[in-house]
Amino acid sequence: MTKVIAMAGKGGTGKTTTTALLTKYLLAKKETPFLLVDADANANLNELLNLDVHLTLGQIRKELKGELPPNTTRDQFMEFKIHQALIEETGYDLLVMGQPDGPGCYCAANQYLAMTMDKLAANYKYIIVDNEAGMEHLSRMNLRSIDYLFVTSDPSARGILTAKRISEITEPLGLQIKEQYLFVNRAPQPVPPALQEKIDEAVTETGMKLGGIIPSSDTLIDMELSGDSYVTLDDSANVVQTVNTIFDKIFS
Ligand SMILES: Nc1ncnc2c1ncn2[C@@H]1O[C@H](COP(=O)(O)OP(=O)(O)O)[C@@H](O)[C@H]1O
Ligand SMILES: [Mg+2]
Repeated sequence: MTKVIAMAGKGGTGKTTTTALLTKYLLAKKETPFLLVDADANANLNELLNLDVHLTLGQIRKELKGELPPNTTRDQFMEFKIHQALIEETGYDLLVMGQPDGPGCYCAANQYLAMTMDKLAANYKYIIVDNEAGMEHLSRMNLRSIDYLFVTSDPSARGILTAKRISEITEPLGLQIKEQYLFVNRAPQPVPPALQEKIDEAVTETGMKLGGIIPSSDTLIDMELSGDSYVTLDDSANVVQTVNTIFDKIFS
């Protein structure tokens, strides 16, 4: 069965970074093939993996409104186009959602998308969705059942409070989430006791467990600036070892 991992968290807290580090982890563990979905309108996961995007689902949705090739149904067209949009790498594929529906949304496109995703999903061990702050895309893709929700937070009291709120809104959204983990990112080492208290509180008062605390890392900053793929990060880097230990614990 395909497992769905979804990222959530305020902008800038580390969802895309965590997704790129998870990509490196799953490749190393040979937990392949997996599908990465960049569900941020301002897509940038591809940059951390040093991949070019040529076609997004937003663009396909637009094409679906126009004339289709003869003897092609809309769901055939959608399926064909989604395969075209897949960026295929060794061990994983990347699909970029792009811009969401604007006014005059062609909502049937979302149904075709959901249908195609259902079929596509069966090919993968994991589907990992890098969301923007909201999680609307998950329902668009019909990913209502999520095995792991990773909620990222910056290392501040208000950040942790926001993570708590995000965890709490998943229920009204109708998402079924098996396990939720809080990731506190860019944390100073050692973690200040006041921050630790907020983390403990968030974990006690929500369905989240503590996934882990990720240190602030110059290695990541340098890597982002260099434009190289995070998959090539040095295994001995402190941040890589830390997240690997965190993922080992979660997926064991
Ligand atoms: N642990 C970290 N150490 C240093 N910089 C980080 C760390 N995590 C994220 N960043 C940087 O912070 C910025 C926002 O991270 P990003 O993963 O893009 O957040 P999000 O996807 O949640 O918006 C990026 O420039 C990223 O390189
Ligand atoms: Mg992001």
